[in-house]
This record gives sequence, C-alpha cells and structure tokens, in this order.
Amino acid sequence: MEQLKGLILSGGKGTRLRPITYTSAKQLVPVANKPVLFYGIEAMAKAGIRQIGIIIAPETGDEIRETAGDGSQFGVEITYIPQSAPLGLAHAVLTAEPFLGTDPFVMYLGDNLLQGGIEDLVDNFRSNKPEALILLTQVPDPQNYGVAELAADGSVTRLVEKPAEPATDLALVGVYMFTPRIHEAAKSIQPSPRGELEITDAIQWLVDVGAPVESHVVRGWWKDTGRLADMLEANRLILETVEQKVDGQLIDSQIEGRVIVEPGAVLERSTVRGPAIIGAGARLVDAYVGPYTAVGRHCTIDSSEVEHSILLENSEVRGLDGRMESSLLGRDVKIVRGQSQPRAYRFMVGDSSEIGIL
Ligand code: G1P
Repeated sequence: MEQLKGLILSGGKGTRLRPITYTSAKQLVPVANKPVLFYGIEAMAKAGIRQIGIIIAPETGDEIRETAGDGSQFGVEITYIPQSAPLGLAHAVLTAEPFLGTDPFVMYLGDNLLQGGIEDLVDNFRSNKPEALILLTQVPDPQNYGVAELAADGSVTRLVEKPAEPATDLALVGVYMFTPRIHEAAKSIQPSPRGELEITDAIQWLVDVGAPVESHVVRGWWKDTGRLADMLEANRLILETVEQKVDGQLIDSQIEGRVIVEPGAVLERSTVRGPAIIGAGARLVDAYVGPYTAVGRHCTIDSSEVEHSILLENSEVRGLDGRMESSLLGRDVKIVRGQSQPRAYRFMVGDSSEIGIL
C-alpha cells in the first residue's frame, strides 16, 4: 500500500469551551499539562505515520503552528493547511486534497483523545483494505454525535449526524481511516442543516455506492474534549496513567501517590495527593492539591485547596476558604481572597465565564 498520511483537524471555534477559546484554540487546552492536540500527533507518530497535515483556522492557526512547530519534536513532518471557514469535516478533507493526493490517510479530530493509540487500527486498515474504517463507541447521549446502524454481520448500513432520535447508541469516534475515494464522496454530498459538509454524510455516500466501510468498536476509553466536563474527565483518565516523578523542590511538604512535580516547581508546607501534576516553576504555599488536578507552569496556589481541576499557566489562587474543585482556569487568572472589610465578592470576568459559589 502507498504511504499512509495523517490529517489532524484543528480548526473550529470551540464554542462549548468559552471563554477559554476566545483567546486560545480548544486543541491547545492542556490535559495533564500537555495540549490535547499533541496526543493525536503522538498517536500517529507511534503508528509510523511521518507526514501529517494539520487543518487550521484563521483565528487560531498561528498559535497552533507556534506550539506544534515543524513536527520535529514528535519525529514527524507537519504541513499546515489553512481552512478559510469551518464548513465541516468533509470540507476539511477537500481542503487537504492537495496535501493528501492519492494516499490513504488517518483523520483525527484534534480535540479527541483515544486510549490505546491507533496502531491496531492502522494494521487492520492495511490488511483488510476497506475504503473507510470508522470507530464506534457506546455513549449515553448519541444525539450529540454521528450515529451508526450496523447489519447483523457488523457492516455499516447507515450513518446519521446528530439524529434527534438515534437508532442506536453507537457514536462515531473522531478517528477515521480513508482511501482517496473519500474525496469523491466529499464532492458528491450537500451541506447538512447546520450548513456543513459532514464527514458522516460522505461515509454514508460510500456505503450507498457499495464501497466497503468497516467499523470497530473501541475497547478503551475515548473522549471528545469539547466541553468542560469532558476535559476534566480526560484529565482524570490521563493522570490515572502517570507515575510518581518529583523533580521540583519540597520544603516541609508531602507528596502522596502518583504525582509529577516538574523541574523548578517549589512546594512549601503543602500536600499534593495524586494523581496530579504540578507544572514547571509553579509555587504551592500552605496549599493542598487533591487528586486529578493539573497545575500549569508558573501557577501559584497559596493558602488554598484545589482538587479535580485544570489550571493553565500563570494562574493564581490565594486565600480561598473553601476548596476549589471541578474548575478550569485559563492563563493569568487570579482568584484571590482579600482580608479587608466589608467582605464582598469582586469580579472582573470575561464573556461566557461561569462562576459557581456553592
Ligand atoms: C464531530 C462529528 C461527529 C463525531 C464527533 C466526534 O462532531 O461530526 O460525527 O461523532 O465529531 O467527536 P462535532 O464535534 O463537530 O460536533
């Protein structure tokens, strides 16, 4: 078979992760202190893919380029492919046609995380040679995804994008394998009611013309990190896999369980209960950091308790009475409890922010 290329979709507006996505790409939100996007690139590199195209949007393309670079940090070669507007996943495939040429490829949605990588799938695709290989997983809310119907022998009979009344609970996972036939399919379909050229419809076109479309139900977990709850869940799942590694400095502090303390982080009179990661240069003073927390680089947690949360770099949490939990803080956020009277809440909060006072 010809060489297999990789296509990662890293455009989109990330509306469900506002306000974080007003200033940053959703694919760069860190999970266990590493951008979501990197997990997809690494999965491809591990499966032996060397040439990766990344679809970028005008708003966030530069940031994606700066972060992922030319790919050498992953041992791959990255080509950036600007998409003028978010007109759908099949539109992204067409936009990438000059890069993909007639090679088969793996397409990976840049905000997806798939446990167990893609090596088995690539092997399967190479040996069975279908025109498309899709991944499925059972979900409690299929109406939010592309949904598949299968025949008794497991072959795909119907795919519907976000159906109001789903026929099954089998959602399309955002990792697909295609032969160049998908270009013909993408050119043959019409935009969906949401105005996008849906990859789901393009695959349905392949089914309709009798092209072999195979499906696999994923064994491990899969996460689309498009919403806060999913992001925290992904962070939890990845942190479950870390081993203890303490490179920072501990002063009168305790580490319990699987905790990573990156170089230059300083903990004073603090306790970290894993699984958790404390980023390089972070400072914890009289603090407690509980399980499933990722503290970004150069964050400060002072006289506060934080658990099951993600803090992006340079954020500060000081003097909180209650424990902060299930939270996502962007960069340079300050949550500070002052000493002065009268006691009051004082906020300066961006659009679409959410503050829960429990
Ligand atoms: C996209 C696809 C959908 C798939 C999902 C997986 O949806 O259109 O079929 O199930 O990704 O993450 P979107 O995230 O664009 O709403």
